[in-house]
Amino acid sequence: MISPILTVPRERPTESGALAEALEGGAVLMFPDLDFPFSDFEQRFTDRPFADGKAKNVNIRGEAAHLRGAAGTPEEQEALRQVLIRYRQFARALVDRYLPEYTRAVTLAGTSYRPFDVDRRKLSWRRDDTRLHVDAFPSNPIGEKRILRVFRNINPDGQPRRWRVGEDFGSMAEKFLPRLPGYSPLSARLMAALRITKARRSEYDHLMLHLHDALKQDEAYQASAPQANVEFYPGQTWVTFSDLVMHGAMGGRYMLEQTAYLPVSAQAHPDKSPQRILAHKLGRTLQ
Ligand SMILES: [Fe+2]
Repeated sequence: MISPILTVPRERPTESGALAEALEGGAVLMFPDLDFPFSDFEQRFTDRPFADGKAKNVNIRGEAAHLRGAAGTPEEQEALRQVLIRYRQFARALVDRYLPEYTRAVTLAGTSYRPFDVDRRKLSWRRDDTRLHVDAFPSNPIGEKRILRVFRNINPDGQPRRWRVGEDFGSMAEKFLPRLPGYSPLSARLMAALRITKARRSEYDHLMLHLHDALKQDEAYQASAPQANVEFYPGQTWVTFSDLVMHGAMGGRYMLEQTAYLPVSAQAHPDKSPQRILAHKLGRTLQ
């Protein structure tokens, strides 16, 4: 089954638990009409990229919300930082209102401003995000957490953000699990000791990294796997578990993104997590 896109009008009557249920089942929630206004001064952030060009994105992290990768005058950089802080609050409010069962357990991580078009330079296949994949972070093991992301298209010219979405995680995992290399607890401990990773890479993290790579490397799968094109228009906000939903970013520029973490144990149905799906397919608990 291909991941469904579920449109959620702002005034949706709250049907307890239905949206979290859909998300956990692999849907993308699309909110067509949430407000996130820009001031006259802030319009410039969608006229041209305020980025130093060294990294893909500009972002803030942590309580201090230190801005990284930005360009512009000190006044402009502070204004951009405030946009990102406001977007983080917007994402928090979205969770509180539409996913109230997650409110207490969710933690917000980085917030990013993405002014550049999807990179179609001949990147290495591993960094090519036009290829269908699930998200996994090489240096930042996440263990028993889920990756929940809130995106918003802020393009000023009507240009959509174009995605592909793929088949459900379980069907994908069935095809790829047999090809993945075994996990070594010893090398996981070494990588943590050498600070190659920020924490010990669990077997789940190991599997997800190798899944990410195996998926992107498989040209035949990329071309022929079940998939659908999706367009997200300016003013639209979309939310998904990006560790579960197969996706590729095909085009579009000027976007805001918030990453959040949710413990598997805080899900309505922990069995629907990639952690439990992989364990189930392997017929054992993960190390
Ligand atoms: Fe991704």
